Amino acid sequence: MNRCEVRLTQKSITAYPGELLVFLVAANGKKLPKCNQKIRPMVKELFALGDFKGNKDESVLLYPGRSDAGKGFSCRRILLVGIGDLKKDDNQDQFLETFRKSGGVISQSAKKVKADELLLVLPEFIDETYFHLTGGLVEGLLLGNYRFRNYKKKETKKDDYHGLKTLTIYGKGGSLRRSLHRARRGAEAAMSARDMANEPANRWTPDHFSKFARDLARNSELRCTIIGKSQIKKFGMGGIIAVNQGSAIDPRVVILEHRPKNYRSTILLVGKGITFDSGGVSLKPAAGMEDMKYDMCGGAAVISAMQAVAEEKPKVRVVAIVPTTDNMSGSSAIKPGDVITHFNGITSEVINTDAEGRLILADALAYGIKEYSPDCVVDLATLTGAVIIGLGHHRTGMMSNNDLLAETLSGAGEETGEKVWRLPLDPEYTEQLESEVADVKNIGGRAGGSITAGAYLQKFVGTTPWAHLDIAGTAWEYTKKSYIPKGPSGIGVRLLLNFIGRCSSLKF
Ligand code: BES
Ligand code: MN
Ligand code: ZN
Repeated sequence: MNRCEVRLTQKSITAYPGELLVFLVAANGKKLPKCNQKIRPMVKELFALGDFKGNKDESVLLYPGRSDAGKGFSCRRILLVGIGDLKKDDNQDQFLETFRKSGGVISQSAKKVKADELLLVLPEFIDETYFHLTGGLVEGLLLGNYRFRNYKKKETKKDDYHGLKTLTIYGKGGSLRRSLHRARRGAEAAMSARDMANEPANRWTPDHFSKFARDLARNSELRCTIIGKSQIKKFGMGGIIAVNQGSAIDPRVVILEHRPKNYRSTILLVGKGITFDSGGVSLKPAAGMEDMKYDMCGGAAVISAMQAVAEEKPKVRVVAIVPTTDNMSGSSAIKPGDVITHFNGITSEVINTDAEGRLILADALAYGIKEYSPDCVVDLATLTGAVIIGLGHHRTGMMSNNDLLAETLSGAGEETGEKVWRLPLDPEYTEQLESEVADVKNIGGRAGGSITAGAYLQKFVGTTPWAHLDIAGTAWEYTKKSYIPKGPSGIGVRLLLNFIGRCSSLKF
């Protein structure tokens, strides 16, 4: 991840001598867009030409040195970014997403001109009540500025840009500062999840998850527990052992805990940490198999969220558990038809070794619930290809046994732009999992594939309020947003943080 410092300034805007001066401009129906009075002459000219109206997704780069209208500015370039008509029927969540996307547009423009710093001027109507929008803007800017170059050490002429190093915002005050802090924390945690996902499977193994968690705990007040292979066996986590059987690399269960004094409730987060999913003996086709290095995005999300939790120190206890292994087809691998026993004693017939995520999550869910008695559980997993068929790449699939929990997560999803959509979980779906030989089988046929996966997990949570987020469609290949560059999106991190923030006053 490339770091970008965020600063506030009150120095003169016109005297700013840097690379890129950025103004936000709001559309205003048929009238001249609303903008800072310093750039009114420019906007007037553009508006008269019909080149710029301040609409969402509109931006224009200007060179003040060459135009009469630009006289008085000392900067090299001026970027105008449209934010649409804020009076129109958009709700607060949509405003926030517009600002996030505008942030993404700014970082893309900075990339185009290879600017490593910029000065951002907020519209005059952005006062205290709108500071959360500024937070969204900075979030989008930082997220859009993300690059992963660990394995491209040689610089080419085309690719010698290292991203923004400094982002300066014209403004002042404690509440603005706090809102920027929160934005930075969320964006950096999401980018840490992207980093983990971007690492190839030979460089992001269960041990890397362990090391990251241990280092995080060493530098914060989080507690870290790593359960190794022999203990996983001893505890009877048969799903994790089964999936790991065909691999030369040992599995781990990685646990991070934030335990504030006098906490009133406990949130358990569980993330699927398959560092590579070959499918096992039920081998996947070769085309696109390389993408299965991303099969640990759920695990990356919950561990990275803890990074922000460690800084934010919410008043609730938060426990994150990542069962992690790769899914390989070595000679001792599980075979279709094998029967395994999970942590809670439930036996499972493994019909398809490629439905491995649910096998490791089952143990982690049952273990976490027994060990930490949480008030609610949320799991995140790149669990089924079927969720992409159902919801595409724009919403995460959600299944839950608790309406309030589901609504709370939906709200968090809308506010963070990480939207979810609830799917049903009727008993009929569970019936699809009935096995001739064991308590349950691990696939329920093609029909409703995402839901039967959720129904499988449900067997391991008992009556604890629980929600399952299938992020297979949203964890990567999600390039249509200006603040999500190609590659892993870091989905779930900001949603979880927002969700945790909503939890302290709720009883599920
Ligand atoms: N990790 C995959 C799900 C996946 C597929 C994520 C495509 C992202 C993109 C999961 O382990 C898997 O293989 N699921 C199977 C389940 C099936 C065998 C019931 C699937 O979706 O095909
Ligand atoms: Mn699989
Ligand atoms: Zn998988």
